[in-house]
Amino acid sequence: MIGYPAALFAFAETLDPARRLAAALDLPCIEIELHRFPDGESRVRVPASAQAALLYRSLDRPNDKLVELMLAASALRDSGTARLTLVAPYLCYMRQDMAFRPGEAVSQRAVCGFLDRLFDAVVTVEPHLHRIESLSSVFDTAQATALSATALLAQTLRMDGVDPATVLVGPDGESRQWAEALAAATGLPFILGDKHRAGDRDIRIALPEAGRVQGRPALLIDDMVSTGRTLAECAALLYAAKATRVEALVVHALYGPADAAALAAAGIARIRSTDGVPHPSNAVPLAPLLAEALRGVSA
Ligand code: R5P
Repeated sequence: MIGYPAALFAFAETLDPARRLAAALDLPCIEIELHRFPDGESRVRVPASAQAALLYRSLDRPNDKLVELMLAASALRDSGTARLTLVAPYLCYMRQDMAFRPGEAVSQRAVCGFLDRLFDAVVTVEPHLHRIESLSSVFDTAQATALSATALLAQTLRMDGVDPATVLVGPDGESRQWAEALAAATGLPFILGDKHRAGDRDIRIALPEAGRVQGRPALLIDDMVSTGRTLAECAALLYAAKATRVEALVVHALYGPADAAALAAAGIARIRSTDGVPHPSNAVPLAPLLAEALRGVSA
């Protein structure tokens, strides 16, 4: 087995963004071998060793991935890794940050505790933090870094060009941070919705200032698209208010083909996302942002 002073290790499903990051950091990118047995167990093999290892895996659809991360971390430690950093552009289970009903697991705390015991550092992008101030408050020992993607999103708008009549739209109060930052970076106005979620796919949104989009294009901004109901509801309200076109720019795209069809049927002309989660809508590589942060973490 080849031994490196430092290397980036990645699973097959994210090799492309992992290679972009490894290239930006001038590190070898090693593919982790993964076999799923017929009974659902996984076999993981790490075919090289590194003193300092970056383990790249985005944690969308996370349940199998978490166990396989544990196995990969174990193999790396066994082969001599002294410093192990998890690069998880999308960090799972961040929304369940409290027990909403007695007896519910606080998944955020449980999953971060699990990762805390495996890794020396964790780097992610726009984790969905709602009731906690900072990601580091749910990690005891690992150095936890939550990166903001707003500068990259603003750069995307500058590079792709944006109709100066566009109104930015955040679907809920939480999206203020991204809508406001992009408005400041582009000079475009923004409005916010008021969202109430009654179930996974049962969402009510009010857009009190929807009248401002009349005769203008609207660009929805959000941190993640999960079922797509949030964006679809907003698009309906924006078209009812006579928006000329509705697009979306998001950080993490988690939705599948059926929801993509519903989003297209809702009239959303284009959705651009970062490559934090591999998805057909990917248009914004995170490698520059992650590389800048990781130079500090792995130094
Ligand atoms: C939640 O508040 C997030 O910012 C997103 O708006 C939400 O997760 C999107 O979920 P969905 O696509 O299922 O409506």
